[in-house]
Amino acid sequence: MTTVLAASTMVHTRAPGKINVFLKVGSLLDDGYHDVAIAYQAVSLCEDVRAYRADDFSVSVSGPVDLSRVPTDGSNIGIKAARLLARRTGYRGGVRLEIEKHVPVTGGMGGGSADAAATLLACDALWGTNISREEMLGLASELGSDVPFALTGGTAIGTGRGDQLSPALAKGQFQWVLALSDSGLSTPAVYEELDLHRHRHAQDIFPADAAPIVDADVLQALRAGDPHMLAECLHNDLQAPALQMEPSLAAVIELGEKNGALAGVVSGSGPTVAFLTADLDSALELQIALSAAQMKVVRATGPVHGARIITD
Ligand code: C5P
Repeated sequence: MTTVLAASTMVHTRAPGKINVFLKVGSLLDDGYHDVAIAYQAVSLCEDVRAYRADDFSVSVSGPVDLSRVPTDGSNIGIKAARLLARRTGYRGGVRLEIEKHVPVTGGMGGGSADAAATLLACDALWGTNISREEMLGLASELGSDVPFALTGGTAIGTGRGDQLSPALAKGQFQWVLALSDSGLSTPAVYEELDLHRHRHAQDIFPADAAPIVDADVLQALRAGDPHMLAECLHNDLQAPALQMEPSLAAVIELGEKNGALAGVVSGSGPTVAFLTADLDSALELQIALSAAQMKVVRATGPVHGARIITD
């Protein structure tokens, strides 16, 4: 996408984590994925990638989050992203990646997806592969359903697997407080739990061929930049199965809502709980209250922009 930095020995990129302010899950498709309708918001918790010229592929990870579940072998999504780009462009060399993680790991906030997006952008610039935006979005989609959104950022509607994006009009900044969990939840396992639940209760939520859509009041709340309106329509179909698998999250949501959050919702497949607050003061107060209850919390604002090159 850019040749400006083609001669550099290191490229530094940054990509955001996300909150799903609305997530509706439709049918299970033949490819094992579900048809979804998502309203994504990119938030100010970001992943930093530094990519260095190298003969082979390697990765190291650092950062203020629990890194114990992050692989540093070929199964690391950064390595997968770099290898995919090399394969598709015929690039013969490798890369050494340093990933600085700030998004909770397996927390439902798209940290791995941000790593993949930041890596694609970094390697493209480092290697001078010069692929188009459309090609990069295509590679992103192959790497994971949320990876295209980590490239584009902002506020967007995702359909299909969540990878077909259209921008959504959004005003202002939303203030979030995120309650982190020591455990992680596996995205496929949470989707599976939802399917089991629907099967057990014979829930026919959609006519077989009807695709889910994002409710109009969500789009209106985002357009108005009004946290009170948005709080009324935060929704996540994956919340019930996530609570089934991690029952303690129900008390977390209740505690946040008792301490000034406008609403709380499990983010993506969880277990991170995202609390929307009215303003910065309420966010700070909520952060203090949840910390006093021995919970790990971080604040974030959104929307922020997608993956970009850092030129410091
Ligand atoms: O695309 P990604 O690698 O993030 O998806 C991880 C897993 O989550 C998939 O293998 C699938 O089990 C589940 N998934 C799904 N429907 C989606 C997105 C993810 O069932 N739209």
